[in-house]
Amino acid sequence: MQTTERLASYRIAPALPADIGRLQELETDSFSSDRLSRRQMLYHLHNPRAVFLTVREENGSQTALGYALILRAKNRPARLYSIVVAKESRGLGLGKILCRAGLDALRDAGEKKLLLEVDAHDNATVGFYERLGFETIRRLPAYYEDGRDALKMQVLL
Ligand SMILES: CC(C)(COP(=O)(O)OP(=O)(O)OC[C@H]1O[C@@H](n2cnc3c(N)ncnc32)[C@H](O)[C@@H]1OP(=O)(O)O)[C@@H](O)C(=O)NCCC(=O)NCCS
Repeated sequence: MQTTERLASYRIAPALPADIGRLQELETDSFSSDRLSRRQMLYHLHNPRAVFLTVREENGSQTALGYALILRAKNRPARLYSIVVAKESRGLGLGKILCRAGLDALRDAGEKKLLLEVDAHDNATVGFYERLGFETIRRLPAYYEDGRDALKMQVLL
């Protein structure tokens, strides 16, 4: 018997006002502290210095499966403010395509570097960033609200 496997394809698109409820759900499910508020998200939808991207299935539900928010600044390097993929959709490559789309947008905008902070004890996420070309440049003691250290990482564009 022949079986046909259908592989989903995914689409990157700017975040829209209609996505905010879902993106808040992703924040709540994924982070216990330092969450991005609804108000901050609404602000960044219209912030010309924000690269605010979502990923969703090409031909399926319009529900966002993940998002990335990168902030550009006038005289400082851009910063990856948040990236989240829904728990049930992790490990499919969505985090990678979101991050790569963000890096492409930054290159197009003439940025030279992207910085981020990540929980120093979260080896999986540090590894995820290393696979995307980021390297650790310093440790930030008690960086998070609950006292955990962070690592500052950067990638040159
Ligand atoms: C970090 C996160 C966005 C990664 O998204 P994802 O869609 O699961 O990652 P991908 O499937 O695109 O993985 C990309 C690469 O990282 C690796 N990777 C991802 N998660 C990993 C894990 N938990 N352990 C080991 N490797 C991992 C994958 O193997 C893959 O490697 P490859 O390119 O060699 O195949 C996702 O795990 C997440 O939302 N985590 C919770 C929120 C969070 O911590 N965000 C970061 C805040 S700093």
